[in-house]
Amino acid sequence: MTIARAPGKIILAGEQFVVLGAPAVAMAIDLYSYAEAKSNRAGQVNVGIDVPLRNLSTSRESSRGPSAQRFLRPLSLAAEATLDHIGGTGEGVDVNSECEIPIAAGLGSSASTTVSIISAVSTCQGAALERKEIFDLAFIPEKFLHGKPSGVDQATCIYGGIIEFTRPSNIRPLRIKTDPILLLCDSGIHHETKALVGSVVKKSKIQRRDFRDYLTQMRSVSRGVAKSLRTGDDDYLGQLMTVNHELLQKIGVSHPKLDHLVGVAKQAGALGAKLTGAGGGGCIIAVCSTFPSRERIARKLRRAGGTPIKISRDQNGVMARSD
Ligand code: PMV
Repeated sequence: MTIARAPGKIILAGEQFVVLGAPAVAMAIDLYSYAEAKSNRAGQVNVGIDVPLRNLSTSRESSRGPSAQRFLRPLSLAAEATLDHIGGTGEGVDVNSECEIPIAAGLGSSASTTVSIISAVSTCQGAALERKEIFDLAFIPEKFLHGKPSGVDQATCIYGGIIEFTRPSNIRPLRIKTDPILLLCDSGIHHETKALVGSVVKKSKIQRRDFRDYLTQMRSVSRGVAKSLRTGDDDYLGQLMTVNHELLQKIGVSHPKLDHLVGVAKQAGALGAKLTGAGGGGCIIAVCSTFPSRERIARKLRRAGGTPIKISRDQNGVMARSD
């Protein structure tokens, strides 16, 4: 039996714009997906998932959220692609996956789950894959689910820590001075990354001049975010995150509830806040000056109808071990 674990992620700067060529800065977080894999002689690929019910579509607001069934196909694709890649003995694999990361909330639940499955399946077949091989394989389920993903989600889940991502051939781990004090807040509204990214790509082809301008601004915001993390300047980080949120509003991927939560966080003392992930729902992140301030901001966000989650940086990325 092999068990693998992969973290979820938040995007500190550059979501959506990364699909159009701007750099993004993303951080792996201490919420995880787990995959158990066991070889079977029947040559079959069986994948099951255990996702907390609260993560699936139950309420009216989230009625377009994912069902367990829709979540399953990309996971089977991940397991099948891994077996094909390692060209095994004809053995199949039984996989059981668990995900504690809220789904369709911009936290990389799908990338994390596929990455942990690829790692568990390859390790249980005795093949130690390089991170780059896991990255390439993860594109298969990610494309199935998201259309044209940049690759930033799976890169963050694989490498862990904080990365600067410009394109698949340009992924750089970022050395930071101190960990920023971050607060995540789930709006409870599920989103569809594929539709949101599609709408932005379409808009960028129509509003060419505006988007050229946004991309120039985004490049400098992402560079600034990376610098603020290297130097431990949380004030600057907060300011830039707020600018990033405004850029995401301009391209039409925010949501009134996200704007409200961002406003509440800032009023309660956050140094800055932004939506994280594709937008249209999902989560916001806020930079806090101190831990007591984070507690205060969390209380205000809860009162405003959000679900605050205190997060920290995962440093390891994907890991697997066999018994
Ligand atoms: O799937 P999400 O909501 O975590 O968003 C992924 C980041 C995007 O930039 C919106 C898409 C991508 O592939 O980079």
